Amino acid sequence: MLKRTHGAGTLRASHAGDTVTVCGWVRRRRDQGGVIFIDLWDRSGLVQTVFDSSDAAAAHAVADQCRGEFVVALRGVVRPRPAGTENPRLDTGAVELRVSEAEILNPSRTPPFLLTDEQVSEEIRLLHRYVDLRRPKMQANLALRHRVVKACRDTLDAEGFWEVETPCLIRSTPEGARDYVVPARVSPGGFYALPQSPQLFKQMLQVSGVERYFQIARCFRDEASRADRQPEFTQIDLEMSFISQDDVFAVVERVVAAMWQAGTGTALATPFPRLSHEEALARFGSDKPDMRFGMELQDLGDLLAGSELRVFQNALASGGAIRGIAAPGCAGYSRKQIDELTELAKRFGAGGLVSILLDGEGGFRSSIQRYLTPEQVKELQERLGAGPGDLILIVADRAAVVSEALNRLRLHLGQVLGLIPENDWKFVWVLDFPLFEKDEKGGLTPSHHPFSHPKTAEDVALLDSDPEAVIASVYDLAVNGVELGSGSIRVHDPELQIKILEKIGIPREAAWERFGFLLNALSYGAPPHGGIALGVDRIAQLLAREATIRDVIAFPKAASGYDPMLDCPAPIEPEQLAELHLAVVLPAEGE
Ligand code: AMO
Repeated sequence: MLKRTHGAGTLRASHAGDTVTVCGWVRRRRDQGGVIFIDLWDRSGLVQTVFDSSDAAAAHAVADQCRGEFVVALRGVVRPRPAGTENPRLDTGAVELRVSEAEILNPSRTPPFLLTDEQVSEEIRLLHRYVDLRRPKMQANLALRHRVVKACRDTLDAEGFWEVETPCLIRSTPEGARDYVVPARVSPGGFYALPQSPQLFKQMLQVSGVERYFQIARCFRDEASRADRQPEFTQIDLEMSFISQDDVFAVVERVVAAMWQAGTGTALATPFPRLSHEEALARFGSDKPDMRFGMELQDLGDLLAGSELRVFQNALASGGAIRGIAAPGCAGYSRKQIDELTELAKRFGAGGLVSILLDGEGGFRSSIQRYLTPEQVKELQERLGAGPGDLILIVADRAAVVSEALNRLRLHLGQVLGLIPENDWKFVWVLDFPLFEKDEKGGLTPSHHPFSHPKTAEDVALLDSDPEAVIASVYDLAVNGVELGSGSIRVHDPELQIKILEKIGIPREAAWERFGFLLNALSYGAPPHGGIALGVDRIAQLLAREATIRDVIAFPKAASGYDPMLDCPAPIEPEQLAELHLAVVLPAEGE
């Protein structure tokens, strides 16, 4: 068997005259009778190879049998391409390999799709992922992910972190999603849960004195997959002892800067700016604001408090808000365009949308014309920094609805108006989240997870009197409107931990039953500690500029957790079920 000496994509003019052996896949074959051309591809790139029946009849005969994606080994002499036939778009475009010996290492069935076809459905691509990953774009994504994760590992190693593996067969860790569970054969009726994150293990490792832990950790969450979400994904998970929030930020900034450098060659400016959660919501309507453009939200409650418009009155009377944004140059929007914006606002919970189109002569047209005086419009303009030719959009509702609707309108308009610079990276720390939020049933639920520490002693004191007002040392890292990571300073006092669990409806006994191992660990000398987890897949997706997270994961799940290649989830044999002491009760038709 011929032994590879060079990568196909590494051949250059400097190799002219050398005898080399390349191995790879037949990407394209052109038969010109006496001469056959094969574009040979391997991980390093593509090179043109030539088989001439006049001086290498045996090799030409092999080439004659080759078809798309056959695996071959080719030996020959590198030579400059004939003048005028060079291909400047190819790294190897100055040369070709004149083949004297050829061997088919393995034939291939006709590939399920052309590797150059960009229109193949994702289902077909995932069904034959092993072939799909041969595309140059997918290869580039795998390589990029490797580089970025390596930069992260190297940086954390240099910072004194230890990489420690934590188990995948565990008890449930609450991160807000459903668990995937694994039945345990040896304890009938018993189940493991797959980790939603290594949260409690990394905390226990601090009790163990590891001080600086990290893990490129696989996490499992039974939630619908989306463009930026997979049921199985990877975190850069880290935790540190005897630190403050600022220490975590500084380490993460160095890690992220190294990853961006490795991924795109971009030198990021650090430290990253910081916004309180409250300010992020007030200015952008989002806790992961896209800071690449302006169009900030403004509170208009005081200016419109005297309005006779019922929606304004009702919003303010019920403790809600009236806020707005100004879309530059959109005063010419048609009725239809305004209706589309209104639909968008409604899709995110708003009852409606007030529009004010500022015409060139200082006049205005509005959906609530008769409720507005020219003076009021002038004040609104000033508050929003708007002028003639701009469009003012106002939402009045519950504060959370106002934020979300205006956030969506801002992002949408930023996009369609071309206000978002594509090549900019605007990182921001969002901090001081409330410890709790209200769930649908009116109870308290953690805004991050229940292991986060209240920010100050005053916040601890508020736990009993006004838990909703408690601010926590919880922080998120966002970039360009994407949440990259979340973390917090943790509770290290077992009594405080029990109290917080009680607040979210887990009484003391239940807390001991579910989290006894953690509470015990905290009571055996837990150092003050904190950390964060960053989403590796999201980072790779951003750096690769892919529209979906699936394109930076080698073997992702399709929608609803289905894997077309493995055709799973799949039933298991009755014997296996029996061994696991399980019986399957299928939902009735239509359920
Ligand atoms: P959190 O749940 O916020 O925090 O997750 C941290 C980061 O992980 C990424 N991420 C996901 N990526 C892809 N698909 C998903 N389904 C998915 N879910 C989360 C996001 C997110 O910001 N234990 C805490 C961290 C800590 O407190 O240290 C945790 O898991 O980028």
